[in-house]
Amino acid sequence: AQFKSKFPKNFYWGGATAANQIEGAFDVDGKGLSAADFVEYIPKEERTKDNAMEITSEQIRKTLSGESTARHPKREGIDFYHNYKEDIALLAEMGFTAFRFSIHWSRIFPNGYDETPNEAGLQFYDNVLDELAKHKIEPVVTLSHYETPYGLTERYNGWVGRETVDHFVRYAETVFTRYKNKVKLWISFNEINMITISPFTGGGILSDKEDNPMQAKYQGLHHQFVASSLATKKLHEIIPDGKMGCMLARMTFYPNTPNPEDVLKAQKENQDNLFFTDVHARGEYPKYMERFFIENDIKIVKETGDDEIIKQYPVDYITISYYMSLLASASPEGEVTEGNLLNSLKNPYLQASDWGWQIDPIGLRVTLNDLYDRYQLPIFIVENGIGAYDKVEEDGSIHDDYRIDYLRKHIEQMKEAIGDGVDLIGYLSWGPIDLVSMSTSEMSKRYGFIYVDKDDEGNGTLERSRKDSFFWYKKVIESNGEEL
Ligand code: BG6
Repeated sequence: AQFKSKFPKNFYWGGATAANQIEGAFDVDGKGLSAADFVEYIPKEERTKDNAMEITSEQIRKTLSGESTARHPKREGIDFYHNYKEDIALLAEMGFTAFRFSIHWSRIFPNGYDETPNEAGLQFYDNVLDELAKHKIEPVVTLSHYETPYGLTERYNGWVGRETVDHFVRYAETVFTRYKNKVKLWISFNEINMITISPFTGGGILSDKEDNPMQAKYQGLHHQFVASSLATKKLHEIIPDGKMGCMLARMTFYPNTPNPEDVLKAQKENQDNLFFTDVHARGEYPKYMERFFIENDIKIVKETGDDEIIKQYPVDYITISYYMSLLASASPEGEVTEGNLLNSLKNPYLQASDWGWQIDPIGLRVTLNDLYDRYQLPIFIVENGIGAYDKVEEDGSIHDDYRIDYLRKHIEQMKEAIGDGVDLIGYLSWGPIDLVSMSTSEMSKRYGFIYVDKDDEGNGTLERSRKDSFFWYKKVIESNGEEL
C-alpha cells in the first residue's frame, strides 16, 4: 500500500540565530567583550579557514591597545539589540512557532568571572522573551554560541581552565532562575565540536599560549562536557519540565568509493564527529576514543566525580546543524571543496552553494535515521539553510528561488525521515533574518527570509525587507509542511 508521511501536530517551525551574529551593541548597557568581539573581517582574497576564525594573542593585544585597524563585524551584527520588536514581529508574520537565539554570556557576566550578574543584560532578554510570548513563539535558548567572555580567556585561557566550569554553571543557574517561567527548551553548547576545530571560536582558547594545543582543546572540551551536565542538573532542579539539548555540527561522511579502505575511513570520520553526542547522550566517553587519545598523546585530566556527573546528567534531546555531507577517502586525492567546519572531496552527484558547501537533502534523511538509531532521543534540527548572494531588484523585491529550492528539498526529506520512524520535533532554519556569517564575517553570505540592507564593509540602512522565500515559508508553516 502507499505510505504517506506527515509532520506531527505541534511540530516546531521557525528559525535560529546567535547573539554575536545579530545583536550588535557590543559595549552597550554593561556588556563585556567576548571571543566573537575579536573576530576580524578578512577580505575574501586573504581569507583562510584559520585566519577567519582563529585569533592570536598579538591580534588581541593590538585590538585592546587600539593599534588594530581591523573591522569586527560581530560587534555590529544587524542591531537586533535595538530592533528586536520589529524583527520578532516579522518572524511572527511568517507564523513562527519557535525561535532560537543565544544569550550573550558577557551581557550577563561581563568578565565571565564576576560574582553578580548585570541587571541590564538580564532585562534585555526578558524583553526579548516577552516579545516572543506576545506572539506565541516558543523560545529555544543557547547558553554558549561562540561567546566565551574575554575575561575568562585572560584569566584561564578560556575553557582550558577548570575554573571556567564553575563560572559557566553560575551563569546557567542565573538565567534558569530568572527565566524559569519563560523558557523550557535549552541548549548548552552550540556545535560543541567547534572547540576541536577552532579552539578560540569554540572555547575562547588562545592556542599560541599552549605548549600542546591538541591537549588543551580536548581538555577544554572535557570541561564543557562536565559544565553541560552540571547545567542539566541545575536546569532540572530549577525548571522541572525544562529540557536540555546538546548541539552537534553533524557532518555525515560517505566513503569516496566502495573500497573497504574508504569505508573504514568514513566510519572513523563519523565516529570522530559522533563522539560529542555519544558523551552527551550516552553519558560516557566511547571506547573508540581511547585509541585516538593515545595516538595523539592526549591525557585528559579529570577530577574525581567527573565521570559520574557526565553519566548522571545526560541531555534530554539531541539538536544538530545540518548543511551538507562530506566524502572520506583513505587516499584523499582529487578536487576539494569548502565545507562548514571541514573541507571535503567533491561529490560528483551533488551541486554546491556559492561557498562550495555540497547540497545534499537525502543526506539529511540518512543523518536523522542514523542519529535516531543511535540514541532513540527526540531530535530537533536547529540549523539548516543555504548561504547565498541575493540580488535586490529595482522594485525592491528579491527572487531567492535557490533558497526556496534548498529548503523545500530538505523539508521533504525530513518528512520522509519522520515516516521512517524518527522522532523529529522541529525544524529551525539558520538565519531567518540576514546576519553576520560565522565563518567569514560577511554580510553578503545571506541565509534569511528577511533581507537586511548592510554590506560586507558595514554600509547600509539596516532596513528589513521580505524576500520571496518569506511568503513561501509562511505557507509551509501554515500548512504544517504540506504545501512545499
Ligand atoms: C553554524 C553556526 O556552524 O553554521 C552558525 O552555528 C553559523 O553560527 C552557521 O552562522 C552558518 O555558517 P556561516 O559560516 O555560513 O555563517
